[in-house]
Amino acid sequence: MQTSYAPGRVELLGNHTDYNEGVVLSAAIDRGVTLSGERTGSSRVTLCSTTLESTFEASTASLAPNKEHEWANYLLGVLDVFQKAGLPVGGFSAEIKSDLPLGAGLSSSAALEVSTAMLLQKLFGLSLDRLTIAKLCRRAENEFVGVNCGLLDQVSSAFGKAGHAIFLDCRNETVETTPFPDGVELLITQCGVPHRLSGGEYNERRLQCFDAAARLGAKALRDVTSAQLEAAKAMLPTLSYKRAAHVVGENERVLQGIEFLRNGNVRAFGALMFASHESSRHNFENSTPELDALVEIARDLPGVLGSRLTGGGFGGATVTLLERDKAHAVAETLVAKYREQTGHVAHAHLCEIADGAH
Ligand code: GLA
Repeated sequence: MQTSYAPGRVELLGNHTDYNEGVVLSAAIDRGVTLSGERTGSSRVTLCSTTLESTFEASTASLAPNKEHEWANYLLGVLDVFQKAGLPVGGFSAEIKSDLPLGAGLSSSAALEVSTAMLLQKLFGLSLDRLTIAKLCRRAENEFVGVNCGLLDQVSSAFGKAGHAIFLDCRNETVETTPFPDGVELLITQCGVPHRLSGGEYNERRLQCFDAAARLGAKALRDVTSAQLEAAKAMLPTLSYKRAAHVVGENERVLQGIEFLRNGNVRAFGALMFASHESSRHNFENSTPELDALVEIARDLPGVLGSRLTGGGFGGATVTLLERDKAHAVAETLVAKYREQTGHVAHAHLCEIADGAH
């Protein structure tokens, strides 16, 4: 029996920049997906989710996405792309345990994919580097699961480093880590209303971004500066302008943000997080009233430096940067006030920045 583990991630800045060939800052968190399994010695694949109390069987010879057991598609998808890449894999069994909430915007899907890849590596004696693993897992999500995500989630899960933020350049496919400043913590707050990226909004936003880049005569929104965008504003449909403004602004905020992290300027970093959320709300329209409420309540609490939605949006969670000594008080008050205002029960989790998959 072998085991593998891959964590979820929190996106710190750089919302919807990854598939626009941009830059993003993230971190792996102290929650994730553990798999234990072994080779079946045949073409049989036997999967079991303890969290969902569900099992599923398949054959390596006929892998296809399954509608009733969507959770299984993440594992089957990774097996499928490994096979298509000509890697010597075969049937296996796997039991999934996870302490990562599903649909919370913390990339439970990428954690499951990366954990599957790590398990396959062990079971079949492969030695792929982390970037190759992340890219194969993204391919599984794009081609098998059907979500056209970028590289952010899989890279964060594969490259996480305790106490460090991850800086990913999606065009150059380079990954750097930088120490996260002392004296601050990250609070992840699930809004209590799950999100579903397969819902279509994500792929729709992606196409709107590609369309905006084409109208601007750019290969990708990565190539557009805010000055260029402002100069072209009059000739762009409002929707294209707003989508582009979000991505262009986020890329710029990531580049400023990494400098602020390096200098330990947590206040300035927090201000960028608030600006990022405002841009999500107004320009990208991937926030929800619940996420807005969490950010607005957090803004007024002593010790809070910044707050924004994290991940795809349309539900999920916010990430709040706050002073360590006020962290517990903020978490309690945020949940209480949010319940008063919206009637929803939020889950707040003070998270450690953790190591990536192993
Ligand atoms: C989801 C996707 C990522 C990224 C974020 C938004 O998490 O899976 O690839 O696009 O949304 O930044």
